[in-house]
Amino acid sequence: MRALVAGGAGFVGSHLCEFLLDQSIDVACVDNLSTGRRRNISHLLNRKGFRFVKADIAGRMNLRGEFDIIYNLASPASPKDYLALPLATLSVGSAGTRNLLELARRRKAVFVMASTSEVYGDPKQHPQRETYWGNVNPVGIRAVYDEAKRFSEALTVTYHRQYGMPVRIARIFNTYGPRMQTQDGRVVPNLIDQALNDQPMTIYGSGRQTRSFCYVSDLVEGLFRLAGCTDPMPVNLGNPDEYSILRLARVIRRLTGTRSKLQFRSLPQDDPKRRKPDITRARRLLKWKPKVPLEQGLEQTIAWFRKTRR
Ligand SMILES: NC(=O)c1ccc[n+]([C@@H]2O[C@H](COP(=O)([O-])OP(=O)(O)OC[C@H]3O[C@@H](n4cnc5c(N)ncnc54)[C@H](O)[C@@H]3O)[C@@H](O)[C@H]2O)c1
Repeated sequence: MRALVAGGAGFVGSHLCEFLLDQSIDVACVDNLSTGRRRNISHLLNRKGFRFVKADIAGRMNLRGEFDIIYNLASPASPKDYLALPLATLSVGSAGTRNLLELARRRKAVFVMASTSEVYGDPKQHPQRETYWGNVNPVGIRAVYDEAKRFSEALTVTYHRQYGMPVRIARIFNTYGPRMQTQDGRVVPNLIDQALNDQPMTIYGSGRQTRSFCYVSDLVEGLFRLAGCTDPMPVNLGNPDEYSILRLARVIRRLTGTRSKLQFRSLPQDDPKRRKPDITRARRLLKWKPKVPLEQGLEQTIAWFRKTRR
């Protein structure tokens, strides 16, 4: 089997490349390194069956070889990154997704789109089911990401309807783990980095807004199983255990043994108040549910952050 992983030098993508190689699947990792890092995949470069191609999926890609599965994870993903790269984010979610769909059509490959829980916006339904259409502000600052992903989903199902192509859509909820960037503004690396440096830990708003946090190994297993199912409609992948940001910060304080105090700041525009996946479809279709409890995942993530800051 041969897979292409677009965005494979990023946080999730690098774990997915590793997982696929471990299943004896050859991997072509395509990435423009805009938000990913070569060091995320440096340990894979000499592995049999792995190749790295530096390319922008929204531009001209000269990709050799056959593929059985194409995963599209390419996109700036953290608010800090997509706000710094607004047009590139819209472009990768439109032209980029279309280019990969065309490639999948020519190669007769299964296409797996990494979408996001952000398609639900600030949800009026809780927990979020795949049948919920969302509450997104199309002209808000986060629209570059949310609407790009919504458009990618629309393109993906249209290729299925028009050409009968095998497609899958994962709506990924907050995922964390080793290789996240400390400065990317996402809550888990942000709080861990501040805690390890004994700096004030930033809480936006009251901290009572909730999120669910999925450990990266669980997500990667879900993405792998998704490629093997036959349903073209979106499937939520995330951990349904709901934590307030305040509770998350307290757990990180305890696990790091930091002296940091909590520092409250105003909530960013269009920040969702609650997020929790309904994973009934993933359980049924993929026989999948997350296995790693938050504390265990945080311990592994903190250990990685400690090691890499030396
Ligand atoms: N991590 C999460 O919690 C989460 C949640 C929901 C959805 N997702 C989705 O999963 C995917 C991976 O997220 P991540 O957290 O690993 O982010 P990341 O920024 O670490 O990885 C994204 C990768 O895509 C690459 N990329 C961006 N634009 C590209 C382009 N035009 N051509 C080629 N490569 C390009 C980047 O260089 C980077 O390596 C993203 O599509 C994201 O939207 C992630």
